[in-house]
Amino acid sequence: MTPAVVEELIKKAGEAASAARAPYSGFKVGAAVLSADGRIFTGCNIENASLTLSVCAEKVALLKAISEGALGLKAIVVTSRNGQQCFPCGGCRQLLFEFAPEIKVILPARNSVKTYTIRELLPEPFVKE
Ligand code: THU
Repeated sequence: MTPAVVEELIKKAGEAASAARAPYSGFKVGAAVLSADGRIFTGCNIENASLTLSVCAEKVALLKAISEGALGLKAIVVTSRNGQQCFPCGGCRQLLFEFAPEIKVILPARNSVKTYTIRELLPEPFVKE
């Protein structure tokens, strides 16, 4: 992945946050997933009055990619606008591990960009075996 591709993912994730529906938390999140064939799938968080039906930005982006048949997901950027890294929640880590065990998780903040493997973020995933 070139620095230009990473920049593109960061830009797309930031733009995706504009569509977030976050009236309850006020916390808008955007995500962008890169597939092996170079496609980019974006997502934002979408909250619901029930709260439990709310979905995270990375889950939306990941499931869009999966549902479009994207394979070999290479990277995901998750971003919020508070200037700090937006670490994926535990449930999203489990989802990412299941569908994209090789994915790099790229988390930009105001002054730095941190990159993790999904294994680093979820060292002991639940697996069906
Ligand atoms: N959220 C995400 O979309 N992704 C994360 O990685 C962390 C949290 C959303 C869920 C909820 O809509 C809001 O941020 C506050 O928790």
